[in-house]
Amino acid sequence: MCGIVGYIGKRRAYDILIQGLHRLEYRGYDSSGVAMISEDGELNIYKAKGKVEALEHFAASKDLSGTIGIAHTRWATHGEPNDINAHPHFSQSGRLAMVHNGTIENYSVLKDALSSHGYNFISQTDTEVAVHLIEYIMQKNNCSLFDAVREATKRIVGAYAIAIVDKQNPDQIIAARQSSPLVIGVGEGEYFLASDATPIIEYTNKVIYLNDGDIAVINRGQELKVFDSNSTSESEIKITELQMSIEQLEKGGYPHFMLKEIFEQPKTLADCISGRISADGKRVTLSGVIEHKEKFLNTNRIIIVACGTSWHAALIGKHLFEEFCRIPVVVEYASEFRYSNPVVNPGDVLIALSQSGETADTLAALELAKANGAFVFGICNVIGSSIPRATHSGCYIHVGPEIGVASTKAFTGQVTVLAMMSLLIGQMKGTVSDEVVANVASDIRRVPALIKDIFKLNDKIEELAKIFTYAHNFLYLGRGYNYPSALEGALKLKEISYIHAEGYPAAEMKHGTIALIDNDMPSVVIAIKDNVYEKTVNNIQQVKARGGKVVAIVTEGDTIVADMADYVLEVPQIAECLTPLLTAIPLQLLAYYIAVNKGRNVDQPRNLAKSVTVE
Ligand code: M6R
Repeated sequence: MCGIVGYIGKRRAYDILIQGLHRLEYRGYDSSGVAMISEDGELNIYKAKGKVEALEHFAASKDLSGTIGIAHTRWATHGEPNDINAHPHFSQSGRLAMVHNGTIENYSVLKDALSSHGYNFISQTDTEVAVHLIEYIMQKNNCSLFDAVREATKRIVGAYAIAIVDKQNPDQIIAARQSSPLVIGVGEGEYFLASDATPIIEYTNKVIYLNDGDIAVINRGQELKVFDSNSTSESEIKITELQMSIEQLEKGGYPHFMLKEIFEQPKTLADCISGRISADGKRVTLSGVIEHKEKFLNTNRIIIVACGTSWHAALIGKHLFEEFCRIPVVVEYASEFRYSNPVVNPGDVLIALSQSGETADTLAALELAKANGAFVFGICNVIGSSIPRATHSGCYIHVGPEIGVASTKAFTGQVTVLAMMSLLIGQMKGTVSDEVVANVASDIRRVPALIKDIFKLNDKIEELAKIFTYAHNFLYLGRGYNYPSALEGALKLKEISYIHAEGYPAAEMKHGTIALIDNDMPSVVIAIKDNVYEKTVNNIQQVKARGGKVVAIVTEGDTIVADMADYVLEVPQIAECLTPLLTAIPLQLLAYYIAVNKGRNVDQPRNLAKSVTVE
């Protein structure tokens, strides 16, 4: 939510800032802006409502000189998306400019106090309050910008990643973070600053991930200094080498990142599995689990916290852990868990599941569990993000950067890791036989090839999407391992096509939802050959009897459902617990093509952002 970029060095800052904003646009696209100190010492701010393109258009005729600047792409929290609320924001005197990602909770108290000192506010944002506060402290204490930021961070309550430039010091950027991510790229005589590493990778692979409470002093041509806001001593700086390539951040010939990411899944899942299943296929190795094996073997329950698509993957994880490890699992929305006064005890294991590793609610939920003595384990995609750094242990899904706002390859990566984890823990616990482990593990290895096979359905799904593009409501039905798949299919359709869709356990339908079914409400039913197959077939009959149209996702060779459903999409046979990895593909493609037919912005759907770093 909101993306920050900064640059200080020898190149024209504007070019780096704009390119960085394009890379971070997935984090919010309500408005964007840049602040740069020009060659003749002016602090210029250019900003525009809408996408980065609008900013480029607006700035084209302006002074774009200067080798220092900060920039921002916004997902609106305080104040509507417009030019005025767009970042960067000036301080009262126009000396400072600041960008901010996060939410300042006590902004109205601070605003009142500053108003009483004669400060005026142009925007409705919390950010403007913070930059005024910093300038106020500078003036009152006659101190440096660094000291003022340090003092301000003590008064600000909330989450922030900020970057500030001072017109009177064109050789310095001050940056600070608390609960919102910030990465510094270290080049040859230049520094880059960003909310994640994607704007940095084309210039350097050396990065420093700031920790909560860190304040960075970035001086031109000098060594970077990082301080903990609560102490006067310098913090140790740890340089990490990025394992990312530019190609991963480009569309690679696809019209949308989402389509690219759907089609990448054979490769991303091969990467996710790589080195984790032994050559003889009989054992799973996940070092983050093995190193803490006693935590998993001794726990009486596992809590999984997540949001959105990750929450759907967590529901599949519950089935997996209960089937193979016989450990009771509760799956909680992180946002509900954190405020529910949950019972968490030492001995509990909490798994935080998150693609971005930055979701504010998931991060807060795991901090709460940690404070109560639980062992916290992270399953994330973005390397070096906040959740992996806050957990005791974890494992990455290794599916590469996911840029499309709709999660696709991260979902299948999460389910794959959860499947491997449950086999490993079950085997260590003795709750699953070696034979079952070997069978399921060998099926996990088949998944990439099977997904390639499913892509043969692409044209058929594209055609099918034309038939359903104008439906106003959809029902998605599934059971067992594929009930979460139904929820996920519905979410995919909702978020990118803006068509209302509901995911439902197929058998629950007759307790109310069936009243909605008529000729205008299509149902997508996942009816693969599992232990409730016959029951799901009955559910399809019930829909058909009420005039509903049915698109069924079935196991290859199924003729029973083929005879009753209106349209059938076949997926190959695989171990039941892995079927969500296959059924996800037609669901993703169907949502994608319907959204394209409706002319939606598939990669950046309205009102959404990829990384939800606010509550
Ligand atoms: O980064 P996270 O996995 O923690 O994100 C959680 C949700 O915000 C995310 O899955 C969201 O629901 C996606 N847009 C779904 O496609």
